[in-house]
Amino acid sequence: MKPIVAPSILAADFANLQREITMINESDADWIHVDVMDGVFVPNISMGLPVMEAVKRHAKKPIDVHLMIVHPENFVEAFRKAGAEIISVHIEACHHLHRNIQQIKGLGAKAGVAINPHTSVSQLEDIVQDIDLICMMSVNPGFGAQKFIENTYQKIKELRELLVRRKSNALIEIDGGVSLSNARPLMEAGADVLVTGNLVFTSDSPKEVIQQLKRL
Ligand code: DX5
Ligand code: ZN
Repeated sequence: MKPIVAPSILAADFANLQREITMINESDADWIHVDVMDGVFVPNISMGLPVMEAVKRHAKKPIDVHLMIVHPENFVEAFRKAGAEIISVHIEACHHLHRNIQQIKGLGAKAGVAINPHTSVSQLEDIVQDIDLICMMSVNPGFGAQKFIENTYQKIKELRELLVRRKSNALIEIDGGVSLSNARPLMEAGADVLVTGNLVFTSDSPKEVIQQLKRL
């Protein structure tokens, strides 16, 4: 089972960001996950466009931007111009999700929908055929290094069934609390992409951790 592995630079050493990006470039990781927080949608502020641009200058892998912000439609174009290949918006932050998805796709990026732990999979029923990815939060968004929420397994199974039924090829991305012990069960439940922050960046040998995830 080979997951797409997306290290989240939220857990990186921001004072040595170039070194961290180089490590990802040289590793078996597939994408670089960029967590954008506004202090309104989530109770934390992380990084914005200047950091995204700095990451892009060094990145040799696609950048997967996770927008944890209100009114994401105001920033989607700027993140696309800054080099985002995949852009996810939160279903809980969008009044016009379909329009927001069309906006992302119209800019030539892949479009994702992120869902909080309390949001049921059934709310994706009429959007899965239009999207490339579902970012399923397995912690409450806002912080790294939180405890994985076990109910995620059930939601992955429900989402996989929905994708099959609706003939959607969207990828299932799991975000939050991914560890070396839950990675395999997550893939068995139906996940495609594993986001990993602390697991990778607090390790003394991050490239080996990434390699372990690729060899589940
Ligand atoms: C949480 C972020 C996650 C986070 C994951 O709001 O969306 O991407 O960085 O970090 P870990 O892997 O440490 O839970
Ligand atoms: Zn994220």
